[in-house]
Amino acid sequence: MSDERMASSSGVPSAGAGKRAQDYAAVRDWPGYFDLMLGKPARETLVAALALFDKVDAKREVAAVSGARLAVDLGCGEGRDALELLSRGWRVLAIDGHPKSFELLEPRVGAADRARLETQVATFRDATWPERVDLFNASFALPFCERRDWDGVWKRIVGSIRPGGRFCGQLFGDRDGWAILPDRTHHKRQELDGLFRGFVFEELREEDRPDTGLNDVPKHWHIYHIVARKRDG
Ligand SMILES: C[S@@+](CC[C@H](N)C(=O)[O-])C[C@H]1O[C@@H](n2cnc3c(N)ncnc32)[C@H](O)[C@@H]1O
Repeated sequence: MSDERMASSSGVPSAGAGKRAQDYAAVRDWPGYFDLMLGKPARETLVAALALFDKVDAKREVAAVSGARLAVDLGCGEGRDALELLSRGWRVLAIDGHPKSFELLEPRVGAADRARLETQVATFRDATWPERVDLFNASFALPFCERRDWDGVWKRIVGSIRPGGRFCGQLFGDRDGWAILPDRTHHKRQELDGLFRGFVFEELREEDRPDTGLNDVPKHWHIYHIVARKRDG
């Protein structure tokens, strides 16, 4: 993930040994990754999705919405996106496979937001979430789903997003340097149309570039930044 995301070009140093986020993510050292990410703002794809929800609210939906909207934040990490959602009044189910996520997230949740946060330590495969969600956020997380689990996890994600709801987050492409690793799932561009059948892409930005960062191990990034709305009916 580039710059402070997971990479790269800005060469953001870590607290230890000059490592950057991508170095931790490459080997699934999530505590190291979380320490480096702590305090970063919400991901751009989440912010874009929230702006789209706000626009709908302003136009027509606000009177019809009863109670807070529900977001699932899958692979929530140290909680940058969950905190943003909570601060905007959403109910949030934050899920991550690593318990340190919640040791870092929970103390930073304000008293007024606490009742709207639910957490779950679970793998993507074993995680459970409600049948109907307004927003499914998965920032830089799903590429770490093992290939054998992908179809089932993705089917459940798509099935749970209500008509008019959204998915936002990142998937990684087949030209990404990590595509050769056995424990990841990467997609060709043309596969996205199948994955998002029944959705309209509101943002689909493809990043395909060599890592120009300061590290001496080259890393090619091939990332899809996605905001997609599920069609009504
Ligand atoms: C690169 S981090 C992204 C974290 C955060 N969403 C962000 O944008 O910074 C990937 C996250 O996915 C979680 N993760 C990776 N593989 C997982 C799995 N199989 N099941 C559940 N969580 C997993 C990690 O613990 C980590 O928090």
